[in-house]
Amino acid sequence: MSTTEVLPEVDILEGLEPLARKLGNGASKPRGLFITFEGLDGAGKTTQLKLLAARLREQGKPVLETAEPGGTSVGMQIRHILLNAENKELSALTELLLMFACRAQDVEECILPALDQGLIVLCDRFTDSTVAYQGVARGLSIETVRTVDRIACQGLAPHLTLYLDVDVETALERAHHRNREDERPETRIEEQTLEFHTKVRDAYLDLAAMHPERIRLVDALGTREEVAERVWGIVQRAVGALGVR
Ligand code: TMP
Repeated sequence: MSTTEVLPEVDILEGLEPLARKLGNGASKPRGLFITFEGLDGAGKTTQLKLLAARLREQGKPVLETAEPGGTSVGMQIRHILLNAENKELSALTELLLMFACRAQDVEECILPALDQGLIVLCDRFTDSTVAYQGVARGLSIETVRTVDRIACQGLAPHLTLYLDVDVETALERAHHRNREDERPETRIEEQTLEFHTKVRDAYLDLAAMHPERIRLVDALGTREEVAERVWGIVQRAVGALGVR
């Protein structure tokens, strides 16, 4: 008898009804706009997210900024485990589950309540990162990531994703420069090989090609002001198209 015959089929969302209901169709659907930033370490996501947040606020739009891994007080503690370069023994599967533990907390504590209030939520990385880093580069499979995503995020997906594309060498050079200036570098994942980061970039490019309706590829080479203009053009169109106040 195969394992699938022995195990009873269960609904993985069973027991999580209150949050799942919030995300259901119809009247209870969150009213805000969920925008995520994605890219290699050193692509400039964090800088661009902050510039976009400032610009949206100047226009009177209510914005919540968050980040993965991190985002909440619990998430920051998990982030420390994940990125501490001394944790050499951390397995790929543990890494995946900790990424989603962080995200589950952020979704429930910050992102959903903000969306329910009609805010624009800007998140520095979300599940596309886990697909690219753990699913593809670590080789855990995209299917595995999607399965855990269903549990941890319960159907929440970004309305719009800005993927900041830059070649691997440039991205890593920028990331290493930043780390040299940082007193407590969080480098466990960043310090993977060039081959690893090349897989991550290829995965992002595949994701962008697979989901053109959601993921916009932004050329991240140039000055931060030039990149910010590209981001702003895309976001303005999306905000208009999605009818956000
Ligand atoms: P950050 O520097 O953008 O905060 O990201 C920290 C590191 O975590 C970065 O090397 C990418 C990695 N990461 C994953 O491997 N999987 C994930 O799901 C997320 C959110 C980040």
